[in-house]
Amino acid sequence: MSHILVTGGAGYIGSHVVKLLLEKGYKVSVLDSLINGHIEVVPEEVNFYQIDLADKEGLDAIFEKNTFDAVMHFAAFIEAGISMNEPGKFFTNNCSNGINLLEVMMKYDVSKLIFSSTAALYGDPIQTPIKENHPLQPVNHYGTTKLIFEKILSMYKETYNLKYIALRYFNAAGADQGAEIGEDHDPETHLIPLVLQTALGKRDDIKIFGTDYDTEDGTCVRDYIHVSDLAEAHLLALENLLEGGQSDQFNLGNGKGFSVREVIEAAKKVTGKDIKVVEAGRREGDPAILIADSTKIKNKLGWDPKFTSIEDIIKTAWEFHMKHPDGFKKLSSATFFELLSTPTRAGN
Ligand code: UFG
Repeated sequence: MSHILVTGGAGYIGSHVVKLLLEKGYKVSVLDSLINGHIEVVPEEVNFYQIDLADKEGLDAIFEKNTFDAVMHFAAFIEAGISMNEPGKFFTNNCSNGINLLEVMMKYDVSKLIFSSTAALYGDPIQTPIKENHPLQPVNHYGTTKLIFEKILSMYKETYNLKYIALRYFNAAGADQGAEIGEDHDPETHLIPLVLQTALGKRDDIKIFGTDYDTEDGTCVRDYIHVSDLAEAHLLALENLLEGGQSDQFNLGNGKGFSVREVIEAAKKVTGKDIKVVEAGRREGDPAILIADSTKIKNKLGWDPKFTSIEDIIKTAWEFHMKHPDGFKKLSSATFFELLSTPTRAGN
């Protein structure tokens, strides 16, 4: 069975993909710095390496020791809002450290990559829903880092015959069946977890960032896609490359938009809680509307997302939040350094 390296496999989307890969019988290695990831979500049966992609020697040692058939690259900073204040941090991690990964892949002849890209590439839409050939004009630095990395991938394709599939996620949400793994960022900036933390009484209120957008109710509209549907798309993309498929880019969304107010109303219904709402100013770098046209991946790879209702998506996230009201354990710095000094948790 193929051996897949998952960078960022201790993170939100990465951990859902790791779970699916194991269910399908793949051998999996996970590489994660644990700066944002959680060791608890990494299953015992994977090789785990706590390493930052900035560490070229460490990367080389991992590739020297293993023979990977493909890499799935999730490791990155993701918060559009924060990227506007700390662009250097985003460009270093998402672009420069990503090149370290590509270089070591080329050195060890690993030529297949699935890349976590984003709808933030498109910026303010000229056409809605957005197709993959829509102009790429990000309005936040996070989106720019992902656009640059997609360009870098196309250069590696030309120069080294890298085969890659970039998956452009719209708004990932929800949690795996069983609610063992789910969304837990620190700091949390995403709408659905923040709304649910408010429902749990962990926060006093949810702020709506901007009520004067050119949308029906004045708040931003997003396309929420369930994380398990995203995981299925990764599997299809991986199988496609392993079977000799060509490089490509695909949108991953539901094709339906929900405003911030609609998400809060749906969360009130699902949780049965009153959620206090405070209207606030706009957050920098937020496009008004982002809705996907995902016809291409449905037609080409047969992707068939199961979660289409926002309430069903929020329901799974709510189960996760109720099960983990304080999120995953935060590692003490002693445990963090102990892990760092033991690079593999499971030998191979
Ligand atoms: N929002 C609020 N209040 C909050 C948090 C968010 O009103 O407390 C609003 C935001 O302003 C935005 C919407 O809710 O209008 C969704 O915001 P999120 O932070 O949940 O998600 P983003 O749309 O900013 O970004 C997410 C991913 C990106 C991805 C993008 C693509 O984090 O990686 O979706 O659609 F690029």
